[in-house]
Amino acid sequence: MLAVAVFPAKREVHAIDHPEPAIVSPTQAKMRVLEVGICGTDREIVSFQYGIPPEGFEYLVIGHESLSEVVEVGPQVSKVKLGDLVIMTVRRPCGHASCLACREGRQDYCYTGDYTERGIKQQHGYMTELVVEEERYLSVVPRQLRDVAVLVEPLTIAEKSLEQLSCVQQRLPWGATHRAVVLGAGPVGLLGAMALRIAGFEVFVYSRSHSHSDKNEIVSSIGAQYIAAETNSVDEMAKIAGPIDVVYEAVGASSVAFDVIQHLGPNGVFIFTGVPGRKGPIEVDTDYIMKDVVLNNQVILGSVNAPPHCFASAIRDLGVAMERWPAAVRALITARYPISQALQPLTSDVGGIKNVVTVAP
Ligand code: BGC
Ligand code: ZN
Repeated sequence: MLAVAVFPAKREVHAIDHPEPAIVSPTQAKMRVLEVGICGTDREIVSFQYGIPPEGFEYLVIGHESLSEVVEVGPQVSKVKLGDLVIMTVRRPCGHASCLACREGRQDYCYTGDYTERGIKQQHGYMTELVVEEERYLSVVPRQLRDVAVLVEPLTIAEKSLEQLSCVQQRLPWGATHRAVVLGAGPVGLLGAMALRIAGFEVFVYSRSHSHSDKNEIVSSIGAQYIAAETNSVDEMAKIAGPIDVVYEAVGASSVAFDVIQHLGPNGVFIFTGVPGRKGPIEVDTDYIMKDVVLNNQVILGSVNAPPHCFASAIRDLGVAMERWPAAVRALITARYPISQALQPLTSDVGGIKNVVTVAP
Protein backbone atom coordinates (compact mmCIF):
# COMPACT_ATOMS: atom_id res chain seq x y z
CA MET A 1 0.00 0.00 0.00
CA LEU A 2 0.97 3.63 -0.43
CA ALA A 3 2.92 5.47 2.29
CA VAL A 4 5.14 8.53 2.61
CA ALA A 5 8.47 7.72 4.20
CA VAL A 6 11.79 9.25 5.11
CA PHE A 7 15.09 7.41 4.59
CA PRO A 8 17.43 9.20 7.04
CA ALA A 9 20.66 7.42 6.03
CA LYS A 10 20.05 8.08 2.32
CA ARG A 11 18.59 11.54 3.03
CA GLU A 12 15.53 10.85 0.91
CA VAL A 13 11.82 11.36 1.39
CA HIS A 14 9.21 10.02 -1.00
CA ALA A 15 6.17 7.81 -1.53
CA ILE A 16 6.82 4.10 -1.11
CA ASP A 17 5.05 0.77 -1.30
CA HIS A 18 4.69 -0.32 2.35
CA PRO A 19 3.44 -3.78 3.49
CA GLU A 20 -0.22 -3.83 4.51
CA PRO A 21 -0.65 -4.43 8.28
CA ALA A 22 -2.78 -7.26 9.70
CA ILE A 23 -4.56 -7.66 13.03
CA VAL A 24 -2.39 -9.98 15.16
CA SER A 25 -3.94 -9.59 18.62
CA PRO A 26 -7.64 -9.84 19.63
CA THR A 27 -7.62 -6.30 21.05
CA GLN A 28 -6.41 -4.62 17.87
CA ALA A 29 -8.39 -2.72 15.26
CA LYS A 30 -7.56 -1.84 11.66
CA MET A 31 -8.05 1.72 10.48
CA ARG A 32 -8.29 3.37 7.09
CA VAL A 33 -6.43 6.65 7.45
CA LEU A 34 -8.44 9.65 6.24
CA GLU A 35 -6.24 12.64 7.04
CA VAL A 36 -2.85 13.46 8.51
CA GLY A 37 -1.88 16.90 9.80
CA ILE A 38 1.63 18.25 9.27
CA CYS A 39 3.55 19.98 12.04
CA GLY A 40 7.03 21.32 12.77
CA THR A 41 8.15 17.90 13.98
CA ASP A 42 7.34 16.39 10.55
CA ARG A 43 9.20 19.15 8.77
CA GLU A 44 12.24 18.46 10.95
CA ILE A 45 11.98 14.75 10.23
CA VAL A 46 11.87 15.24 6.47
CA SER A 47 14.90 17.52 6.72
CA PHE A 48 16.71 14.67 8.53
CA GLN A 49 17.17 16.48 11.88
CA TYR A 50 14.93 14.08 13.77
CA GLY A 51 13.13 10.79 13.17
CA ILE A 52 14.35 7.20 13.66
CA PRO A 53 13.11 4.22 11.60
CA PRO A 54 11.81 1.11 13.38
CA GLU A 55 14.29 -1.70 13.95
CA GLY A 56 14.98 -3.59 10.73
CA PHE A 57 13.78 -0.76 8.46
CA GLU A 58 15.81 1.81 6.58
CA TYR A 59 12.78 4.06 6.40
CA LEU A 60 10.20 5.62 8.72
CA VAL A 61 6.61 6.17 7.57
CA ILE A 62 5.90 9.70 8.79
CA GLY A 63 2.77 11.34 10.26
CA HIS A 64 1.49 11.43 13.84
CA GLU A 65 -1.56 13.74 13.71
CA SER A 66 -4.24 11.49 12.30
CA LEU A 67 -7.91 10.98 11.70
CA SER A 68 -9.03 7.55 10.57
CA GLU A 69 -11.98 5.21 10.29
CA VAL A 70 -12.25 1.72 11.81
CA VAL A 71 -12.54 -0.93 9.08
CA GLU A 72 -11.89 -4.15 11.00
CA VAL A 73 -11.88 -5.15 14.68
CA GLY A 74 -10.34 -8.04 16.61
CA PRO A 75 -12.72 -10.36 18.54
CA GLN A 76 -12.06 -8.69 21.92
CA VAL A 77 -12.33 -5.07 20.81
CA SER A 78 -15.06 -3.27 22.77
CA LYS A 79 -14.16 0.43 22.68
CA VAL A 80 -14.63 0.99 18.94
CA LYS A 81 -16.79 -0.44 16.18
CA LEU A 82 -16.72 -0.54 12.38
CA GLY A 83 -17.20 2.89 10.86
CA ASP A 84 -16.15 4.82 13.98
CA LEU A 85 -13.94 7.84 13.42
CA VAL A 86 -10.88 7.60 15.65
CA ILE A 87 -7.73 9.48 16.61
CA MET A 88 -4.64 7.49 17.57
CA THR A 89 -2.23 8.59 20.30
CA VAL A 90 1.44 9.02 19.40
CA ARG A 91 3.67 7.58 22.10
CA ARG A 92 4.16 3.93 23.03
CA PRO A 93 5.73 2.68 26.30
CA CYS A 94 9.37 1.78 26.82
CA GLY A 95 10.20 -1.81 27.65
CA HIS A 96 11.79 -1.30 31.07
CA ALA A 97 10.07 -3.01 33.99
CA SER A 98 11.42 -0.25 36.23
CA CYS A 99 9.68 2.58 34.31
CA LEU A 100 6.71 3.26 36.53
CA ALA A 101 5.26 5.80 34.10
CA CYS A 102 5.24 3.47 31.10
CA ARG A 103 4.04 0.51 33.17
CA GLU A 104 1.01 2.58 34.19
CA GLY A 105 0.19 3.73 30.65
CA ARG A 106 1.71 7.16 31.24
CA GLN A 107 4.49 6.95 28.65
CA ASP A 108 4.03 10.70 28.17
CA TYR A 109 6.05 10.84 31.43
CA CYS A 110 8.49 8.01 30.47
CA TYR A 111 11.52 8.04 32.79
CA THR A 112 13.98 6.20 30.55
CA GLY A 113 13.65 8.01 27.24
CA ASP A 114 13.31 4.64 25.53
CA TYR A 115 9.66 5.23 24.57
CA THR A 116 8.79 5.03 20.89
CA GLU A 117 6.53 7.40 18.91
CA ARG A 118 4.50 6.67 15.80
CA GLY A 119 5.79 8.59 12.82
CA ILE A 120 8.66 10.01 14.88
CA LYS A 121 10.77 7.49 16.78
CA GLN A 122 11.09 3.80 15.90
CA GLN A 123 7.44 3.21 14.98
CA HIS A 124 5.87 3.78 11.59
CA GLY A 125 3.42 6.67 11.44
CA TYR A 126 0.06 7.33 9.90
CA MET A 127 0.74 8.76 6.44
CA THR A 128 -0.31 5.51 4.81
CA GLU A 129 -3.53 3.80 3.77
CA LEU A 130 -4.09 1.31 6.61
CA VAL A 131 -2.89 1.13 10.21
CA VAL A 132 -3.36 -1.56 12.89
CA GLU A 133 -3.39 -0.47 16.51
CA GLU A 134 -4.37 -1.64 20.00
CA GLU A 135 -7.77 -0.25 20.97
CA ARG A 136 -6.38 1.40 24.11
CA TYR A 137 -4.59 3.89 21.86
CA LEU A 138 -7.79 4.91 20.04
CA SER A 139 -10.24 7.69 20.89
CA VAL A 140 -13.59 7.92 19.12
CA VAL A 141 -14.55 11.30 17.62
CA PRO A 142 -18.15 12.31 16.92
CA ARG A 143 -19.08 12.39 13.21
CA GLN A 144 -20.02 16.05 13.36
CA LEU A 145 -16.33 16.89 14.01
CA ARG A 146 -15.22 15.04 10.85
CA ASP A 147 -13.89 18.09 8.99
CA VAL A 148 -11.79 19.46 11.89
CA ALA A 149 -10.95 16.30 13.90
CA VAL A 150 -7.41 16.19 12.53
CA LEU A 151 -6.78 19.10 14.96
CA VAL A 152 -7.33 16.86 17.99
CA GLU A 153 -3.70 15.75 18.41
CA PRO A 154 -2.20 19.27 18.37
CA LEU A 155 -4.96 20.32 20.80
CA THR A 156 -3.90 17.57 23.23
CA ILE A 157 -0.68 19.54 23.84
CA ALA A 158 -2.78 22.30 25.41
CA GLU A 159 -4.99 19.85 27.29
CA LYS A 160 -2.05 18.17 28.99
CA SER A 161 -0.54 21.58 29.80
CA LEU A 162 -3.80 22.85 31.32
CA GLU A 163 -4.14 19.72 33.41
CA GLN A 164 -0.65 20.22 34.82
CA LEU A 165 -1.34 23.92 35.36
CA SER A 166 -4.36 23.17 37.49
CA CYS A 167 -2.36 20.59 39.50
CA VAL A 168 0.39 23.14 40.12
CA GLN A 169 -2.01 25.92 41.11
CA GLN A 170 -3.68 23.77 43.72
CA ARG A 171 -0.72 24.96 45.81
CA LEU A 172 -2.35 28.36 46.43
CA PRO A 173 -5.61 30.30 46.63
CA TRP A 174 -6.15 30.94 42.92
CA GLY A 175 -9.02 33.24 41.95
CA ALA A 176 -11.62 32.65 39.28
CA THR A 177 -10.22 34.70 36.40
CA HIS A 178 -6.69 34.57 35.12
CA ARG A 179 -4.71 36.23 32.40
CA ALA A 180 -2.79 34.08 29.95
CA VAL A 181 -0.33 35.08 27.25
CA VAL A 182 0.10 32.69 24.35
CA LEU A 183 3.40 33.06 22.52
CA GLY A 184 2.98 32.22 18.85
CA ALA A 185 -0.02 32.01 16.53
CA GLY A 186 0.71 28.72 14.80
CA PRO A 187 -1.63 25.76 15.27
CA VAL A 188 -0.33 24.92 18.77
CA GLY A 189 -0.65 28.54 19.88
CA LEU A 190 -4.10 29.15 18.40
CA LEU A 191 -5.47 25.84 19.66
CA GLY A 192 -3.92 26.64 23.05
CA ALA A 193 -5.65 30.03 23.00
CA MET A 194 -8.98 28.30 22.31
CA ALA A 195 -8.47 25.79 25.13
CA LEU A 196 -7.53 28.62 27.51
CA ARG A 197 -10.62 30.61 26.51
CA ILE A 198 -12.83 27.55 27.08
CA ALA A 199 -11.17 27.14 30.50
CA GLY A 200 -12.21 30.74 31.29
CA PHE A 201 -8.91 32.59 30.85
CA GLU A 202 -8.53 36.10 29.53
CA VAL A 203 -6.16 35.46 26.61
CA PHE A 204 -3.57 37.54 24.76
CA VAL A 205 -1.77 36.10 21.74
CA TYR A 206 1.65 37.60 21.08
CA SER A 207 3.01 36.72 17.68
CA ARG A 208 5.38 37.55 14.88
CA SER A 209 3.61 36.66 11.68
CA HIS A 210 3.36 37.08 7.91
CA SER A 211 -0.41 37.13 8.03
CA HIS A 212 -1.44 39.27 10.98
CA SER A 213 -4.90 40.02 9.65
CA ASP A 214 -5.95 36.34 9.29
CA LYS A 215 -4.62 35.49 12.73
CA ASN A 216 -6.00 38.63 14.31
CA GLU A 217 -9.42 37.67 12.98
CA ILE A 218 -9.23 34.18 14.47
CA VAL A 219 -7.94 35.50 17.79
CA SER A 220 -10.56 38.28 18.03
CA SER A 221 -13.39 35.93 17.15
CA ILE A 222 -12.57 33.67 20.10
CA GLY A 223 -12.68 36.70 22.42
CA ALA A 224 -8.93 36.98 22.83
CA GLN A 225 -6.63 39.90 22.05
CA TYR A 226 -3.98 39.77 19.35
CA ILE A 227 -0.72 41.65 19.94
CA ALA A 228 1.66 41.89 16.98
CA ALA A 229 5.31 41.47 17.95
CA GLU A 230 6.51 43.72 15.12
CA THR A 231 4.72 46.73 16.55
CA ASN A 232 4.76 45.89 20.28
CA SER A 233 7.94 45.13 22.20
CA VAL A 234 7.81 42.50 24.93
CA ASP A 235 7.63 45.34 27.49
CA GLU A 236 4.67 46.88 25.69
CA MET A 237 2.94 43.51 25.41
CA ALA A 238 3.43 42.97 29.15
CA LYS A 239 1.85 46.36 29.91
CA ILE A 240 -1.21 45.42 27.86
CA ALA A 241 -1.51 41.86 29.16
CA GLY A 242 -0.17 42.08 32.70
CA PRO A 243 -0.15 40.89 35.39
CA ILE A 244 0.43 37.61 33.55
CA ASP A 245 -0.72 34.50 35.41
CA VAL A 246 0.21 32.00 32.71
CA VAL A 247 2.43 32.03 29.65
CA TYR A 248 1.76 29.29 27.10
CA GLU A 249 4.82 29.18 24.89
CA ALA A 250 4.16 27.85 21.38
CA VAL A 251 6.90 29.45 19.29
CA GLY A 252 9.83 27.12 19.84
CA ALA A 253 12.18 30.12 20.00
CA SER A 254 14.02 30.58 23.27
CA SER A 255 14.98 34.25 22.99
CA VAL A 256 11.43 35.64 23.00
CA ALA A 257 10.47 33.09 25.67
CA PHE A 258 13.21 34.26 28.04
CA ASP A 259 12.31 37.90 27.41
CA VAL A 260 8.74 37.15 28.38
CA ILE A 261 9.66 35.09 31.50
CA GLN A 262 10.82 38.34 33.06
CA HIS A 263 7.24 39.65 32.88
CA LEU A 264 5.53 36.66 34.47
CA GLY A 265 3.32 37.82 37.35
CA PRO A 266 3.23 36.71 40.99
CA ASN A 267 2.65 32.95 41.43
CA GLY A 268 2.70 32.65 37.64
CA VAL A 269 3.37 29.54 35.61
CA PHE A 270 5.40 29.56 32.41
CA ILE A 271 4.62 26.57 30.19
CA PHE A 272 7.08 25.55 27.48
CA THR A 273 5.74 23.40 24.62
CA GLY A 274 8.16 24.24 21.79
CA VAL A 275 11.29 22.35 20.83
CA PRO A 276 13.79 24.92 19.54
CA GLY A 277 16.46 24.14 16.97
CA ARG A 278 19.97 24.92 18.25
CA LYS A 279 20.84 28.47 17.25
CA GLY A 280 23.72 28.99 19.67
CA PRO A 281 23.89 30.81 23.01
CA ILE A 282 21.94 34.00 23.69
CA GLU A 283 22.40 36.64 26.36
CA VAL A 284 19.91 36.44 29.22
CA ASP A 285 19.95 38.20 32.60
CA THR A 286 19.84 35.01 34.64
CA ASP A 287 20.25 36.68 38.07
CA TYR A 288 17.19 38.75 37.37
CA ILE A 289 15.15 35.73 36.25
CA MET A 290 16.26 33.58 39.19
CA LYS A 291 15.50 36.32 41.72
CA ASP A 292 12.09 36.90 40.19
CA VAL A 293 11.19 33.22 40.03
CA VAL A 294 12.01 32.87 43.73
CA LEU A 295 10.44 36.08 45.00
CA ASN A 296 7.27 35.40 43.00
CA ASN A 297 6.83 31.65 43.62
CA GLN A 298 6.91 31.06 39.88
CA VAL A 299 6.92 27.72 38.13
CA ILE A 300 8.57 26.95 34.80
CA LEU A 301 7.03 23.84 33.34
CA GLY A 302 7.78 21.81 30.23
CA SER A 303 5.14 19.62 28.66
CA VAL A 304 5.33 17.02 25.90
CA ASN A 305 3.01 14.45 24.39
CA ALA A 306 -0.38 13.52 25.84
CA PRO A 307 -2.13 10.51 27.38
CA PRO A 308 -5.48 9.10 26.19
CA HIS A 309 -7.58 11.09 28.67
CA CYS A 310 -6.16 14.33 27.22
CA PHE A 311 -7.32 13.13 23.79
CA ALA A 312 -10.78 12.82 25.34
CA SER A 313 -10.54 16.38 26.70
CA ALA A 314 -9.33 17.63 23.31
CA ILE A 315 -12.28 15.99 21.55
CA ARG A 316 -14.66 17.57 24.07
CA ASP A 317 -13.06 21.04 23.74
CA LEU A 318 -12.96 20.82 19.94
CA GLY A 319 -16.72 20.19 20.09
CA VAL A 320 -17.18 23.23 22.35
CA ALA A 321 -14.98 25.34 20.08
CA MET A 322 -17.02 24.27 17.03
CA GLU A 323 -20.22 25.34 18.77
CA ARG A 324 -18.83 28.72 19.79
CA TRP A 325 -16.50 29.64 16.94
CA PRO A 326 -16.98 27.28 13.95
CA ALA A 327 -15.46 29.68 11.41
CA ALA A 328 -12.36 30.28 13.53
CA VAL A 329 -11.79 26.55 14.06
CA ARG A 330 -12.20 25.81 10.35
CA ALA A 331 -9.84 28.68 9.52
CA LEU A 332 -7.05 26.83 11.34
CA ILE A 333 -6.90 24.35 8.47
CA THR A 334 -5.26 26.25 5.64
CA ALA A 335 -5.14 23.65 2.88
CA ARG A 336 -5.59 19.97 2.13
CA TYR A 337 -3.16 18.15 -0.19
CA PRO A 338 -3.77 14.73 -1.72
CA ILE A 339 -1.20 12.18 -0.54
CA SER A 340 0.35 12.22 -4.03
CA GLN A 341 1.32 15.86 -3.33
CA ALA A 342 2.32 15.39 0.32
CA LEU A 343 5.90 16.50 -0.26
CA GLN A 344 4.76 20.00 -1.09
CA PRO A 345 3.59 21.00 2.43
CA LEU A 346 6.29 18.81 4.01
CA THR A 347 9.36 20.14 2.26
CA SER A 348 8.52 23.64 1.04
CA ASP A 349 7.28 26.64 2.96
CA VAL A 350 3.66 26.69 1.80
CA GLY A 351 2.65 29.00 4.66
CA GLY A 352 -0.68 29.13 6.45
CA ILE A 353 -1.61 27.56 9.78
CA LYS A 354 -2.34 23.81 9.60
CA ASN A 355 -1.75 21.96 6.36
CA VAL A 356 -3.34 18.54 6.03
CA VAL A 357 -2.66 15.55 3.79
CA THR A 358 -5.75 13.68 2.60
CA VAL A 359 -4.99 9.98 2.47
CA ALA A 360 -8.52 8.78 1.69
CA PRO A 361 -11.51 10.96 0.79
C1 BGC B 1 4.06 15.43 19.11
C2 BGC B 1 4.23 14.74 20.44
C3 BGC B 1 5.62 14.16 20.54
C4 BGC B 1 6.65 15.23 20.30
C5 BGC B 1 8.09 14.78 20.46
C6 BGC B 1 5.19 16.40 18.87
O1 BGC B 1 5.10 16.97 17.60
O2 BGC B 1 2.83 16.12 19.09
O3 BGC B 1 3.27 13.73 20.59
O4 BGC B 1 5.78 13.57 21.83
O5 BGC B 1 6.46 15.78 19.01
O6 BGC B 1 8.50 13.82 19.53
ZN1 ZN C 1 9.32 4.48 30.06
